[in-house]
Amino acid sequence: MKGTIEALRVMCEWAAAQDHDASRGYQQILDRVDWSGPRHEVKPKPSPLADACFKQTVDLAGDNPLGDLGRALYADRDTLEWFTMYQSYADDARVDRLNDNYIIVRLAGPRGGWYAEDLTTAITIQGPDTWYPPHAHRQKEVYGVIGGRAEWQRGAEGWVERHSGEIIYHPSGVRHETRTRDEPLMSFASWIDHVHLPSLFVWG
Ligand SMILES: [Fe+2]
Repeated sequence: MKGTIEALRVMCEWAAAQDHDASRGYQQILDRVDWSGPRHEVKPKPSPLADACFKQTVDLAGDNPLGDLGRALYADRDTLEWFTMYQSYADDARVDRLNDNYIIVRLAGPRGGWYAEDLTTAITIQGPDTWYPPHAHRQKEVYGVIGGRAEWQRGAEGWVERHSGEIIYHPSGVRHETRTRDEPLMSFASWIDHVHLPSLFVWG
């Protein structure tokens, strides 16, 4: 993971230097990660979705620091521990497809191999034709598109198609959702502050 963590640091420096409302969040990642080295080993755990989509999202990644992060992660692919999310909604048909088509790898964070204080950093893969329904959380959130295409909606704003190299900011409590069409999506995602609190779907 050393190459991936170095690519994470370089990407955050690049994003923090932009004139963007996500930039402060990227600076907070730089400030709070213990870059001196891992605190514990991560146990590799494969994923059928990664087997199906990971290479394609890397091939779709642009020539930018977010794309570099995706390529570094792919080089570390045999060491990754993939997680699914929202298992507490396992009996809700509205999130069935998301549960089967959305996975994450933790990078630096309270429970990642590298430690970070009260923020999480992760890489996500969202399979094609998959809706990540509207949800909200107390945490501020920054995203970055690594590879593939998706549409994003934030608050009352309309749907916007996002591409590799774009960074995105979700303020605390603001509802947001993401949907993929024919391509899978690989993205970087970080929660900042109050990371022990849950994310809740907001229906209707
Ligand atoms: Fe979110």
